[in-house]
Amino acid sequence: SPALDEQARAILTGNDRGGYTVPTDGLYPYQWNWDSAFAAWGFATFDLDRAWTELDTLFSAQWADGMVPHIIFHKPDPGYFPGPDVWGTGQSPETSGISQPPVAATMARLIFEMDAEAGRDRLAALYPRMLAWHRWWRDQRCGSGVVAITHPWESGRDNCPDWDIGMANVDGSNVGEYTRRDTGHVDASMRPGKADYDRYIAMVQFGRDCGWDQSEIVANGPFLMADPGITFILLRAHDDLAALGRALGHDVSEVEGWAADLRAAVPSIWNAETRGFDARDLKTGRFSGRIGSAAFLAYLANVESPELDARMTELWDAVRYGFPSADPASEEFDPRRYWRGPSWPVVNALMAIGLTDRGRHAAAERLRRETAELIEAHGFFEYFDPIDGTPCGGDAFTWTAAIWLTWAG
Ligand code: DGY
Repeated sequence: SPALDEQARAILTGNDRGGYTVPTDGLYPYQWNWDSAFAAWGFATFDLDRAWTELDTLFSAQWADGMVPHIIFHKPDPGYFPGPDVWGTGQSPETSGISQPPVAATMARLIFEMDAEAGRDRLAALYPRMLAWHRWWRDQRCGSGVVAITHPWESGRDNCPDWDIGMANVDGSNVGEYTRRDTGHVDASMRPGKADYDRYIAMVQFGRDCGWDQSEIVANGPFLMADPGITFILLRAHDDLAALGRALGHDVSEVEGWAADLRAAVPSIWNAETRGFDARDLKTGRFSGRIGSAAFLAYLANVESPELDARMTELWDAVRYGFPSADPASEEFDPRRYWRGPSWPVVNALMAIGLTDRGRHAAAERLRRETAELIEAHGFFEYFDPIDGTPCGGDAFTWTAAIWLTWAG
C-alpha cells in the first residue's frame, strides 16, 4: 500500500546517518555489514545514487587483507556493547574483527540491473573491492571446503541452535564484568541469553589478544563451525560477482573457479540423519544435528533436491507466518528468541529469490504473502513469532523496510 511504502522510505531515510544506515536506532547504532547491503537494495527503489553510496561506505572500512568487517563504528555511541574498545582492532574507521554474510555482490547485481547505465561507474569502482572480499572468504574461511565461521555473530544468525555444539566448548567463565546494552533496548526474552553472551565476549577477547590474526583464530580459536547459510550465500554471490565482472568486461575465471570449488564441497554438509544441510563443528567433524532456515538458502545457490523440498514443507507447515529460523519440532525451538525460532523477513526474501529462480513460484509467493501479512499487521519489526505473528526485537528496522519496498510490499 502507498501508506506503508511511504513509511518504509521514511524508515530508510530516518536511519540514514550520512552515507550509511543504522539497522535501527538505539539497539544497533552503527553500520552493520549485511544490513547495509539490504538497505542499499531498499534505497535503490527510490534513490539509486544513495543505494551505491551505502555500498561504498561499507567497503570504505575494508581491511588490507580484504575482509569487510561486520560492524563499522563510524561515530562513538555508548548505547552499544561490545563497542570499539572491546574489539580493539586498531582499524580506521574502527571496526569489529569478524565478517558477516557476503550478500553485497548479490545486492549490487540487483541494483546494477535496475539501471546498468547509471550504475556502471559505481560498480566499476566497487568491483575490485568485492573481488578482494570474496578472495578473503576463500583464503581465510574455506580451508575445509565449505565456509567456516569463527564467531556465531559472523553467521548473522547469532544464537541459532546450529551453533550449540560449538558454543558448548567455549569457556565464557573468565570474561570479567560487563554490561549488556541490547537488553536495555528490547525485551530480554527476545535476545540471546547470558551464557551465550559470556561466550560471545570470550571469542572477541581471543581475537583481540592475538591481534586479530585470522590464521591463529582459525587454527586455535575457541570456535570454528561450517555454516550452511554463508556457504549458500557466498556460492550465490560468487555467481553474481562473476556476472557483474562480465558486464564490466573482466576475466572472471578466478571467481568461477572459487564457485566451482565451493559447489563441489556442498555435499559435505548434507546430514543424512536430519535430512538437511547442517552446520558442522570443524574441531570434531560432528554435525550440529539441527536444521533451520539456512538449510533452505540452498535454493539461492542453485542447489535443490526432492528431500530438501520435503523438509522445507515440514518446517514451514508447522508455523503460520513465513519461514521459522529453527525447527518447530525441536526442543530448542523458541518462537520469539532471536534466531531460535522467529521468522525473519530478510531470510524469507533470500529464500524467495532462490525459489523464484528455481521456478517454484507458488512457494515464493506464499513466503511473500506471509511476510507481507506480518508487516501489514504489525509494522517494520526486526523479526516475528512465526506462529502468532507477535512482532519482536527492534522496531522501525532498516532491512524490514527495505524488504517491503523491494519484495514483500
Ligand atoms: C548484536 O549485537 O546482537 C549483533 O547481532 C552482533 O552483531
